[in-house]
Amino acid sequence: MRITMVGTGYVGLVTGTCFANVGNDVTCLDIDQKKIDKLNNGISPIYEPGLDEMIQRNTKAGRLHFTTDAASAYQSAEIIFVCVGTPSDAQGHADLKYVLAASADIGKAIEAAPGSTGGSQDDKRSKIIVVKSTVPVGTNKKVQDEIAKHTTKPYKMGSNPEFLKEGAAINDFNKPDRVVLGAQDEGTGDRLRKLYDPFTRNGHPIFVMDIPSAEMVKYASNAMLATKISFINEIASLCEAYGSNVDEVWRGMTSDKRIGNQFLYPGLGYGGSCFPKDVLACISMGQLCGQPTPLLESVDKVNQAQRDRFIAKLDNHFGQGGLSGKKVAVWGIAFKPGTDDIREAPSLTLMNAVLDRGASVVAHDPVAHESCQDHGMMDRIDYSDDMYDMLKDADALVICTDWSEFKQPDFERMRKLMGQAVIFDGRNLYHPQTLQDEGFVYHSVGREPVTQQAPANAS
Ligand SMILES: NC(=O)c1ccc[n+]([C@@H]2O[C@H](COP(=O)([O-])OP(=O)(O)OC[C@H]3O[C@@H](n4cnc5c(N)ncnc54)[C@H](O)[C@@H]3O)[C@@H](O)[C@H]2O)c1
Repeated sequence: MRITMVGTGYVGLVTGTCFANVGNDVTCLDIDQKKIDKLNNGISPIYEPGLDEMIQRNTKAGRLHFTTDAASAYQSAEIIFVCVGTPSDAQGHADLKYVLAASADIGKAIEAAPGSTGGSQDDKRSKIIVVKSTVPVGTNKKVQDEIAKHTTKPYKMGSNPEFLKEGAAINDFNKPDRVVLGAQDEGTGDRLRKLYDPFTRNGHPIFVMDIPSAEMVKYASNAMLATKISFINEIASLCEAYGSNVDEVWRGMTSDKRIGNQFLYPGLGYGGSCFPKDVLACISMGQLCGQPTPLLESVDKVNQAQRDRFIAKLDNHFGQGGLSGKKVAVWGIAFKPGTDDIREAPSLTLMNAVLDRGASVVAHDPVAHESCQDHGMMDRIDYSDDMYDMLKDADALVICTDWSEFKQPDFERMRKLMGQAVIFDGRNLYHPQTLQDEGFVYHSVGREPVTQQAPANAS
C-alpha cells in the first residue's frame, strides 16, 4: 500500500519505517526541513534503538521516502496517518493546531489531485485519513469537518491510537499487545485491518471499533498507567514516613495477581511527551462535558509533588541556602532510558531547582546531549561525556534516569572523585545497605536514607 505519515517524530518515523519494512511504499512528510534533510542523508533525527539501520535499509530498497512536499505526499497516498504533536495548551487542553493545519492541507491536496472526481462517499478506493496522534474524543470529527471545508471529493476516516514505548518502539510496533482501529464503516475497518496483518500474525489482537471509542482507549490506557505510577509514589511517601521499605511492600503487594507488578516502581514520577499532557487532556475533557475527574486531578498533583518531595531531600541535606555554590552532578537527563526525549523530564525540574538555589550543575546522559542543546538547557548547565570525570569535587550526585550503565558503577572510584560522597537516587538503583558499606550518604525513594557515612569504609 502507498502510505503517507504526517510528522516524522517518535511516532510517525518509527511506524512509517516499520510499515515500509513489511513492503509498503511509505512517504514520511514533515514541515521541518532540517529533519527531512537529515533523514535524506540516512541520519535519524531521534534516538531509537535499531531505527537508523532500518531507515537506511528501507530507503535503499526504495520503499521509504522523506519529503516536505505536502501536496504530492498527500496526493500519492492511499492511506494518510496523521502523527503530528498534540501538546498541552496553556489551559491543559490538547492543542489541535498541528492536527487541524495538516487536515486543511490534506483537504486542499485531495481537491487538487488530478484525475480524481467528486465520486461517491462509498468509494472503496477513497483515501483513508487515519488520526494516529493522541487526541481528545471528537477530534476525528473535527478533522473530517476541516478536510470537508476544502474538498467535496470522497475520503474515509479512521482512528489508530499508537501504544509504542520510546526506547522499545520498534519491537512494540512489530509485536503489539494489541492494535486498536476506529473506522467510520466496515469497509474502512477491513482496509486498515489488512495493513496491520503482518504485525498481528502471531495472534496479537486487532480491535476494530467506532471512532470515539478508539480515541478514548488511548487516554484510558495512559491515564491508567499514570495512575499506577502516582499510586506507588504515594505509597512510597507513606513508607518514608513510617519507616517501611517500599521494595518489600512492592514484593508483598505485587505477588497478588490481581495487582500485577508492572508499572509500579516508585521514583521521580512520570514525565515525557505523553503521560503529563494526556492526563491533563483527560481532565480537561471532563471539564468540557461537566464530568469531574477527581482521580486524575490527584494523579497529576501527586506526580508534581513527587518532584518537590525529592528536591526537599536535597534541601534538608544541605540546609537552608546550603546548595548555593555547591556542585551537583546529574546522571540521566532523558525522561526514561532508551530515548533522547527530554520533554517534561523530571531531570529538568530537578536541575532547574538546583540551579535556582545557586548551585552549579554538570550532567551526563548516554544519548540526550543534542536534545539538551535543542531545549536551551546547555546555557545553564555543563555537560560531560564521561560519567566519572564529572564527579570530580561534586558535592552530590543526583540520579534522574535508570540507564543500565548507572546500575553497577565503580563506587570506590566515585567516592574518591567526589568532594562529598552523597547520592540522591531518584530511581532506586541501589540497595541502601550496599551504599552504606561503600561509604555513601544515600537518599532514595520510599526507603530509609543512609544519613551517616560509615567511617570504616570511607577510606
Ligand atoms: N512519543 C511517543 O512515545 C508517543 C507514543 C504514542 C502516541 N504518541 C502521540 O503521537 C503524536 C506524535 O507524537 P511524537 O512524539 O511523535 O511527536 P513529535 O513532536 O516527536 O513529532 C511531531 C512531528 O510532526 C511534525 N509536524 C507538525 N505539523 C506538521 C504538518 N502540518 N505536516 C507535517 N509534519 C508536521 C513536527 O515537525 C514534528 O516533527 C502525539 O499526539 C503523541 O501524544 C506519542
